Amino acid sequence: MDIREVGVIGLGTMGAGIAEVFARGGLVVTAVEADAAALDRGLTALSASLARAESRGKLAADERARIAALIRPAPSIGSLAGADLVIEVVPERLPVKRQVLAELDQVCRPDAVIATNTSSLSVTAIAAGSAHPGRVVGMHFFNPAPVMALVEVVTTVLTDPAVTTAVSELAASLGKTPVAVGDRAGFVANALLLPYLNHAVRLAETGHATREDIDTAATAGIGLPMGPLALLDLIGLDTSLAILDVLDREFGGTRYTPAPLLRRLTDAGRTGRKSGGGFYDYPAAARGPGGTSTGENADQPAPPGTVTLIDATATAGSGDPAGSGDLAGLIAAAGINLTRNPVHPTDLVVIALGPAGGALGPALAADRAADAVGVHLASPGLAELVPTALTSARALAAGRALLARLGLKVVCCADRPGLLVGALLYPHLRDAVVMVADGYARPADVDAAMTLGCGYPRGPMRMLAEVGPDRAVGVLGAMHAGYGDPAFAPPPLLTEYAMAGLSPVGRGER
Ligand code: 3HC
Repeated sequence: MDIREVGVIGLGTMGAGIAEVFARGGLVVTAVEADAAALDRGLTALSASLARAESRGKLAADERARIAALIRPAPSIGSLAGADLVIEVVPERLPVKRQVLAELDQVCRPDAVIATNTSSLSVTAIAAGSAHPGRVVGMHFFNPAPVMALVEVVTTVLTDPAVTTAVSELAASLGKTPVAVGDRAGFVANALLLPYLNHAVRLAETGHATREDIDTAATAGIGLPMGPLALLDLIGLDTSLAILDVLDREFGGTRYTPAPLLRRLTDAGRTGRKSGGGFYDYPAAARGPGGTSTGENADQPAPPGTVTLIDATATAGSGDPAGSGDLAGLIAAAGINLTRNPVHPTDLVVIALGPAGGALGPALAADRAADAVGVHLASPGLAELVPTALTSARALAAGRALLARLGLKVVCCADRPGLLVGALLYPHLRDAVVMVADGYARPADVDAAMTLGCGYPRGPMRMLAEVGPDRAVGVLGAMHAGYGDPAFAPPPLLTEYAMAGLSPVGRGER
C-alpha cells in the first residue's frame, strides 16, 4: 500500500501532534476539525511546535515552511475522498468514533486504511461501526507525538494483515517504533501508566504528600522523566479520566477506579495544560513542560548539632538494613555529632527506615516520640522524611534542615507502608508483572512500551530486576498488610521470581 495522502480527524492535543508527525514525514495532511475555535487552537499548537523545533536548531526555516504547507485544514470529513489513510483522533466516546467511521465509509475509497488513535476503547468495537472492518486498525501515538517513539499498532480479529503491515511500515518510515499489541483495554502502555497516575492522585488527595513531593519522588526517586501529576496535566485530566473509566470497567479494583479528585478537577474544567491549569497552573506563556507551583519556603532553621540515630530494622525488624549505616556515614561526614544511644539528650532523633516505613514504634520505644522523624534513603541523593503522628513541628523542621545539610533532596510523606517512592513504584511494577503473568505481553514488550511511549530510562521489568523481586515482594506485602487492598498483594509470578531467584527480564540476567 502506498500511503502519501492522509487525513487527521480532530485537532486536539494529540491530533495536532499526529498531523505534525505525518507532515514531517513528507505526507500531505488534511486536518479535519469542525469546531473553528478548536481548529484555531490546533493549528496554533502545531505552528508553535514547529517554531520551537526551528529555534532549537532542529529544523531549518525552509523545512519548517515545507512542513507547514503540507498541512491543509478542512472543516468536514467530505474533504478526505483522496486520502490513502485516515486517522480519527476525536474524543474517547464510542458512539462518536463509530459515527466518524460510518461517515468515512461514505467518503473514502474502499482501499483506504482507517486508523483510530483510541487510547483505551476496543478497536474491535470501533471497527464494528464500519462497513469495512478489515481496514480498521489502531494506531496509538503518545504525547507529545512528535517526541515519543512508540506507536502501538492494535489489530482485531477482523483486521486485514496487509493493513497491519502497511500501518507498521508507515510508522517506521515516520521514525517511530511500531509495536503490535492485542485489542485489550489500555493496550500495554496506558494499562500500566494510568493506574500508576491514578494512585498518585490518591496519594495527593489523601494528604499522603504534596503534589510537588509526589512528582519529585517519581523523577528523583525512580528516575522517570516527569512526575505523575505533571504528566496528568500533559495528557489531560479528562482524557486520563476517560481511559480510567474504561480500564475500571474492564479490570475493576482500586488501581483503576478513578480517584475522586481527578473527576472533580475535570468537572471543574481544570483539565491540565490545555485549559491553563490542572494539578499545576500554566499561565499562557508557560504551557511547555513544567508549570508554576507555590514551591516551598526556602527559609531553613539551622541543622541539629547532635543527632540520635535509631535503626528501625533493629527494633521493628522491617525495612532496609543498609539504611542506617549509609545515613550514619552521611551525618558523620557533615560533622554532626551522632549517637546511637537513645538515652543521650540530643537535638533530634532520626529513625532510619526501610521502604516499609514504621517510625512510630521505635520512636515510642526510645521515649522520644516528639523529637523523632523517620528517614529513608530512597535513592542516591533523595531522602524521604517521615513524621509520625507524634512528631513535633520543631523536629520536622530540624529533620528537613539536617537532610539539606547532608546535600539530599527531600520529599516528605506520611508514615505508611511503601512511604512515597515505594508506594508509587512497587504497585506499578506489580501491574507489569500481572500483565506478563496474564500472557498479554512479554517482559520485553512491557519494557519497550514504557521506554518508547513514556520516556522511562528503563522499563518496569528491568527496574524490577534491578531492585530485586524479593524486595518488591517485601514492600508490596507490607502495603497489602497495611491497607488490606488486594491490588497490593504480591502476585504469584512475582513471588516465584523471588523464591526461585529468577530474573524478570529473562534467564541469566539480574
Ligand atoms: N511538542 C513537540 N516537541 C516537544 C514537545 C511538544 N509538546 N515537548 C517537548 N518537545 C521536544 C523538545 O523540543 C525537545 O526536542 P529536542 O531534544 O529535539 O530539542 C525534547 O522534546 C525534549 O524537550 P525538553 O528538553 O523541553 O523537555 P524534557 O527533556 O523535559 O522532555 C518530555 C519533555 C519529552 C515531555 C519528557 O518529559 C517526557 O518524555 N515525558 C514523558 C511523557 C509521556 O509519558 N508521554 C506519554 C503519555 S501517555 C499518552 O500519551 C497516551 C495517551 O493515550 C494518553
